Amino acid sequence: MNVKAVSYIRAIEEGWSRPLLFRCDDGNQYVVKLLNNPQGIKVLPNEMIAFRLGRLLHLPVGECAIVHVSGELITQSPALRDMQVKAGPHLGSVYRETVKVLQNADDLTGCCNLDKAAGMIAFDHWIQNWDRADNIGNILVSKEDDNKKIVMIDHANAFTGSWTLDSLKENRTNRSVYWGKIYELFIPHISDKRLFKSALRQIQSLSKAELWTAMSGLPRKWSVSHTEQRKLVKYLEYRKVAAGEALKDLRKKF
Ligand SMILES: Nc1ncnc2c1ncn2[C@@H]1O[C@H](COP(=O)(O)OP(=O)(O)OP(=O)(O)O)[C@@H](O)[C@H]1O
Ligand SMILES: [Mg+2]
Repeated sequence: MNVKAVSYIRAIEEGWSRPLLFRCDDGNQYVVKLLNNPQGIKVLPNEMIAFRLGRLLHLPVGECAIVHVSGELITQSPALRDMQVKAGPHLGSVYRETVKVLQNADDLTGCCNLDKAAGMIAFDHWIQNWDRADNIGNILVSKEDDNKKIVMIDHANAFTGSWTLDSLKENRTNRSVYWGKIYELFIPHISDKRLFKSALRQIQSLSKAELWTAMSGLPRKWSVSHTEQRKLVKYLEYRKVAAGEALKDLRKKF
């Protein structure tokens, strides 16, 4: 999805990528990671591709969109000019107003979608997102519509982060297990280990064509060549096996 930024609201005072909050022409506010963010350009395609893959798996991923910031808006906003924001297609995550980040076990009380937790952990191992197991900032607890839910955000470090063709090849069979205080919070909520098996089955049943849909329409300025897309699809195919091996070890913790 593409939206246009209509006004700048404020800086989000958290995160290595120094995201900014904008109101956009679909009426939503977006937490926007910029083309020239300090974590690097790969953050943008990583977020979008991971969001689309997560959605294919029916995981509670926060909605992402390509956010176009115009030169005109930058001219009108001294703050954007000071931060040297560039006009162009940036990456936005729909801002969830009534949320907190997941920090402790109490935050999960009453969440209605904890059946997705095994899927989330399997997903992170498939796409090699090492940045959720221990990082308190990367799961939001949303309280919209009277329903309390976990929402997965921040896939900047998917595919290990700043990947290259060489690193994709190197990592496609990597079986590393990610673990930390955030995954630990889910131990009481994943009582049936078969949930990992069914999450893995879902990942493994994604077709190559479906993986390609996650690559479609990425802005040229995000600098992901057709070859890189092809190699990323190949990497994801390989990792269907590697994720299974990692999960065999990880299941012992539950
Ligand atoms: N969609 C959203 N709705 C509400 N708050 C958000 C949203 N996206 C991000 N945030 C807030 O902004 C913070 C930084 O966002 P995010 O984790 O995506 O960026 P980051 O720079 O990659 O962070 P990190 O320091 O984990 O690498 C989050 O921890 C969260 O507090
Ligand atoms: Mg984060």
